[in-house]
Amino acid sequence: MRTAICPGSFDPITKGHVDIIERAAALFDRVIVLISHNPDKKPVFSVSQRVDFVKRSVAHLPNVQVDHHAGLLAEYLSHQNACAIVKGLRAMSDFESEFQMALANKTLNPAAETVFLTTRAENMYLSSSLVRQLAGLGANIAAFVPPAILSDVQKTLQGETNNDGK
Ligand code: PNS
Repeated sequence: MRTAICPGSFDPITKGHVDIIERAAALFDRVIVLISHNPDKKPVFSVSQRVDFVKRSVAHLPNVQVDHHAGLLAEYLSHQNACAIVKGLRAMSDFESEFQMALANKTLNPAAETVFLTTRAENMYLSSSLVRQLAGLGANIAAFVPPAILSDVQKTLQGETNNDGK
């Protein structure tokens, strides 16, 4: 059985993430979407909220599981006997950091192959930070996040802005 891990902050999961997960699920026997810790980011949503949002967004994919992990991705791969890390690649701006992470993970765990799937053209510009910014300013984010989580994400992010008094 070939297992792939789709790691990320997913703060929150977007339609772009779901597209990559669907395509990974078609390529591998089992996919684990892993809410991981990125020390460079301070997430708006808690780990349990992000896990819940991802679960609701991938409920239509029978070979996809959702988990969270605060440690090293390279170690998690070994625990799960996974052979690949699947990442979506949007544009040149993603490339440098993704290349660095892929090489570091391969050094830490030589069995870890990173597979990059290019995003669909319509998702080239989409990111969780854009979703957070738009929703915080009161925009309708229906085009960007899965319908299953839309109202919860929208409510929380609008509340964030209001609570800040901005
Ligand atoms: O969605 P993001 O924040 O761009 O994803 C980055 C993430 C979370 C996948 C990366 O920071 C990560 O792998 N974190 C887990 C800890 C780890 O292994 N760090 C070293 C990466 S080389």
